Amino acid sequence: MSERFMTIPEIRRTAKRLLPPGPWGFGAGGAETETTLRRNRQAIQRLAIRQRVLVDVRKVDLTTTFLGMELPMPIAIAPMGSLILFHPQGDVEMVRGAAPNGNLAVVSGVTGWPVEEVAQAAKGPLIFQLYFVGPRPWAQELLGRVEASGYRAVCLTVDVQVYSRRERDLLLRFDPRAARAAAPNPMPPDLDVQARLTWDDVAWLRSILHVPLGLKGILTAEDAKLAVEAGVKIIWVSNHGGRQLDHTQATINVLPEIVEAVDGRAEIIVDGGFSRGTDVIKALALGAKVVAMGRTMLWGLAVDGAAGVARTLAILQDELSRNLALSGQTSVRGLKPSLLCRAE
Ligand SMILES: Cc1cc2nc3c(=O)[nH]c(=O)nc-3n(C[C@H](O)[C@H](O)[C@H](O)COP(=O)(O)O)c2cc1C
Repeated sequence: MSERFMTIPEIRRTAKRLLPPGPWGFGAGGAETETTLRRNRQAIQRLAIRQRVLVDVRKVDLTTTFLGMELPMPIAIAPMGSLILFHPQGDVEMVRGAAPNGNLAVVSGVTGWPVEEVAQAAKGPLIFQLYFVGPRPWAQELLGRVEASGYRAVCLTVDVQVYSRRERDLLLRFDPRAARAAAPNPMPPDLDVQARLTWDDVAWLRSILHVPLGLKGILTAEDAKLAVEAGVKIIWVSNHGGRQLDHTQATINVLPEIVEAVDGRAEIIVDGGFSRGTDVIKALALGAKVVAMGRTMLWGLAVDGAAGVARTLAILQDELSRNLALSGQTSVRGLKPSLLCRAE
């Protein structure tokens, strides 16, 4: 493990120094004015933890269950495409980084490696993220391979109806799709064909899948309700880390209305700006079951491959455990919204 890194910001700073401007901008950046990107972080920071004391916190339990899977902690690696820009072994290396503790990793639908190869490198549970970019027979064939390789669920990403304007990439004339084509298993490059997707496709996916279906990119109670009614089992509250629609709400701010709408009928993942143990505590208190992290994991991969990812996860685990103890809590389960209050 990369023990030379002591903090998450140190890993991020090192990644920024090591990466060429194109990949750095593609990874760190968001859409247009990057308001969504900043808002995710600001909203997390505007919540304070109401610290309780004089509780015996010698033992803090970070384990949780998600769709029946036992997880060592409620933090997952979010799906990211074009990982070849950050490490020559990309997705394979990323899931290796999750292996030491068996953390949950979500593999991107635009992984540059065959889904079987990524699955073989993993020790912990995997979920497959789908970009529905081809005709139904194409999706059926791919998902058959995904299921045969042992992925535990499939999450369809629904917030890439069309590809957004990523101004950092545009200004640098940087095209991540060109890089993707260089990966060992290039995937269909045209994400914009998803403009046709509707709830009919969700019903169809459910009808062919033998594993639970999730939707990634839900931001309103209305859509969360429709999803649950369509039999969706994972509601993934996400604005794509501020990379798609600019000027959406912060994900942590929409969490309460979605938790209420879902009412225990599906598991809830949230992502967007989470990069600390205390951030995770806040999301769990508001009702998320798992917090996914994108860029935080990406910087670990960029600085030292699987070892960098494992180190990032180890630092997060330590932060989560210490800060739960300092909050007077002994478990990640059962945290309540009353643990939080607004703060400027
Ligand atoms: C470089 C990069 C590539 C991404 N690629 C995908 C992808 O292929 N599929 C997807 O559903 N989301 C993708 N995302 C979004 C992440 O899954 C996640 O929603 C987002 O990064 C969470 O925000 P955070 O980076 O602040 O943790 C990507 C994000 C980044 C930073």
